[in-house]
Amino acid sequence: MKKAIFRSVLVLHGPNLNLLGSRERAIYGREPLEIINRRLAATARAAGVQLASFQTNHEGVMIDRVQQAKVDRVGFILINPAAFTYSSIGLRDALTAVEIPFIEVHLSNIHAREPWRAHSHFTAVAVGSVLGLGSLGYDLALEYAIKRLKAR
Ligand code: DQA
Repeated sequence: MKKAIFRSVLVLHGPNLNLLGSRERAIYGREPLEIINRRLAATARAAGVQLASFQTNHEGVMIDRVQQAKVDRVGFILINPAAFTYSSIGLRDALTAVEIPFIEVHLSNIHAREPWRAHSHFTAVAVGSVLGLGSLGYDLALEYAIKRLKAR
């Protein structure tokens, strides 16, 4: 029974990802965030894993949500830090502080865009990263998270 508590995934979406579907579609695709979140929830449900999704445009709110994840005994985090990727040492520190393994997801290939997008503060402390595969990147990251949670 105790194991089941840890079988939970938190999906975090950073600033402007609430605009997916209408925002720079050539780069980020046409799928609204809600559709992605619903698909991930269905996959997790089918695998017997709890999943919650959260989006915010505010750095402190995101940091608070990461800290709460520890209290909630979340077992794995998927995060698209979006613009926080380049600016938020506070969010990176929160993720390392809670010691919850996480995968960094980006819809676009941040290495194939403006040079300043290439350096992420998160990659070095992530389990791994998925870049440039559009929203499928979240699905692949979730598949890994589920396998890892079930292997515990
Ligand atoms: C992004 C890439 C970032 O450079 C950008 O700031 C975003 C979205 C992506 O998913 O491709 O907001 O994280």
